[in-house]
Amino acid sequence: MALLSRSQFTRLILVLGLIWYRSGALFKNCILYKSSFPTGYIANGDYAKDCNTVRDPEHERHESLNSCEDSTFWELRDAEGRVLERPVIVTCDPGRKAWNTVMGPLRNPEPRGGLWLYVHGAPTTTGRRVATKPRVLAPDVAPNKAHRIVLKDYPEGHDFHPLGVEVWPSYAGNSSNLYVINHARKRTTIEQFVLSPERPLEAEYVRTISTPYFVSPNALALTTPDAFYVSNDHLITRRWPIIGYVLPVIESVFALPLGFVSHVTLTPPGSSGSSISKHNFAKLFVPFPNGISLNALGNRLAVSSSSLAQVLIYKRDPATDALPQLINAVQLPFTPDNIHYTESRISPVEEIIVAGHPNFIDLSKVAANKTGAAAASWVVAIVPKKENGKPETAFDLEAPVSANSKLPTDGARWTLQTLFQSSGVESEGGFGASTTGLRDPETGNFFVPGLYAEGGLMVCKPSN
Ligand SMILES: *[C@@H]1O[C@H](CO)[C@@H](O)[C@H](O)[C@H]1NC(C)=O
Ligand SMILES: *[C@@H]1O[C@H](CO)[C@@H](O)[C@H](O)[C@H]1NC(C)=O
Repeated sequence: MALLSRSQFTRLILVLGLIWYRSGALFKNCILYKSSFPTGYIANGDYAKDCNTVRDPEHERHESLNSCEDSTFWELRDAEGRVLERPVIVTCDPGRKAWNTVMGPLRNPEPRGGLWLYVHGAPTTTGRRVATKPRVLAPDVAPNKAHRIVLKDYPEGHDFHPLGVEVWPSYAGNSSNLYVINHARKRTTIEQFVLSPERPLEAEYVRTISTPYFVSPNALALTTPDAFYVSNDHLITRRWPIIGYVLPVIESVFALPLGFVSHVTLTPPGSSGSSISKHNFAKLFVPFPNGISLNALGNRLAVSSSSLAQVLIYKRDPATDALPQLINAVQLPFTPDNIHYTESRISPVEEIIVAGHPNFIDLSKVAANKTGAAAASWVVAIVPKKENGKPETAFDLEAPVSANSKLPTDGARWTLQTLFQSSGVESEGGFGASTTGLRDPETGNFFVPGLYAEGGLMVCKPSN
């Protein structure tokens, strides 16, 4: 005890207690213990047969489909609102190991990341019938292949480090507003583009949206073509000199509730003055809010808290965009990243697909470009229970590493089902650092971007 006075010792115990109290499950599951993941597992399918990493031999490495963060479906609907096609848009940044404002480092912001479009066909091996529908997307965009989207009229000398992406559906072939969070060198901005199904490989730059309130935007959820929620993952960012190396980590590890969720309404494009007509703090004091998703009815907003290892589900008032009530906090067996409300194939209630990082130390090693490092992938669905039951002690029984091996029970209203797992060891055919899980409700096709994956998108067409 010579090193610490009694009061210092007490304080240390208090601090450790606080970490444990705030983020005990995260500490145990994502830092202390390491599970042994298979090379690959996909629910209802065979990883070796049904999953492929999308590679891109045509572009040089710095412009390739590599190190991807977010992905979203671009719904192409008819005039009545029926979805005809659902190509995937992916954000990638091959330079992430030299520029990452969330995890570091901040070395070289120069090479631009990119946007990609992936058109997926119906699965060929199943008996599932997918009715032929009229095609909206330009016919020359080949399916089962990733296409780099050109940024048309993008300002010279403006960085592009895309993170969260969302796009409004296209109706009867009209254009869609596309928003991309951009970790540019000085500050994080949101870039607005217009994308048309006729020329889907050309995103036309509209404007850069910027405000001092965008401290560290991470993900977006659109509420209209011109308004969105945005998560700000930290208050203290790595861009701050000196303390920027330490404080964001402390903010994360202690799960300090300094992140927030805003709702932003834009002015019409081309109007003079600020591009923002209204900014509201929808929720303050959220620890490390990361992914964010609105349900189909628009009366729920889900936010993943990476440092609590939880998905927080808020009631939303569609008239005011307020989030008056926390309805549920779902504990995850990993550090959650992006999330998506998704139509269920068996129930009228939507599921939430959550991707994340089972071991934070491994992810940090990959981020630091340590030789031989690999970060595992884990994607689960939060599946609503039919009736409010009671928490059960046996769940997620088919997964190689069950969520049940990390969490003693599921919830009264929710259970967890593993959809995807991988050790992330690429040399053995694994796929690492899953950030998003997307599942096409019609075909079951499943998409996972990997934060540092060479060949940044995994596509699975589960056969069962
Ligand atoms: C990461 O390491 C590889 C070799 O292991 C090297 O070729 C590459 O330049 C490194 N990347 C960065 C951003 O330091
Ligand atoms: C396309 O049509 C939808 C539905 O009518 C509308 O909400 C949207 O604003 C339109 N998009 C553009 C860019 O005009």
